[in-house]
Amino acid sequence: MFTKVIAAILALPLVAQLVSADTCTRTYSAQAGDICDSISAANNVSTYQFAVVNVGIIDEACDNLVVGQSYCLGWQGQDCMTTYVVQQNDDCDIISSAAGINTTILYENNPQIDDYCSNIYIGEVLCTANTVQVPPAPAGTTPATSIPPTATPANPDGDLPWCDE
Ligand SMILES: *[C@@H]1O[C@H](CO)[C@@H](O)[C@H](O)[C@H]1NC(C)=O
Ligand SMILES: *[C@@H]1O[C@H](CO)[C@@H](O)[C@H](O)[C@H]1NC(C)=O
Repeated sequence: MFTKVIAAILALPLVAQLVSADTCTRTYSAQAGDICDSISAANNVSTYQFAVVNVGIIDEACDNLVVGQSYCLGWQGQDCMTTYVVQQNDDCDIISSAAGINTTILYENNPQIDDYCSNIYIGEVLCTANTVQVPPAPAGTTPATSIPPTATPANPDGDLPWCDE
């Protein structure tokens, strides 16, 4: 059991390298108390981008961060560093006009946002660049669809997935 876990941990970076030739250009060493969105906010990385570059390493619920482990923040040529942390009462129109961009490009850089912009939540980090800069989502995965269970919708009319249940 122990050996198996170690082997799996050791194999991860290798697998990631085999699957993609993407070059990681910046990294962050996890500290106690970190959550994915706090790492993203502190390092100007969008929630979506952080999830994509760590697919297969950080799980969807982001509950397997290891203190001291180094995580990739961005890939060469696909690294959005223009970011915005969602606040209460934000919606996509407010966010894009504040950033001086249109909603089309906002959706392209943040593909996890639903058609009604109803699933953005306080503390989520969005890429607000004026060109598409984030990497595409890997096939067969939905890296950025996990929303922290403690998340609060940005808008009172917001609709996080579990609100329907
Ligand atoms: C994040 O971006 C802000 C605004 O551009 C900048 O002041 C800050 O130094 C950046 N932080 C990092 C860690 O890059
Ligand atoms: C949105 O902004 C992008 C980048 O400036 C531009 O290329 C695109 O044509 C705009 N789209 C619309 C629908 O205005």
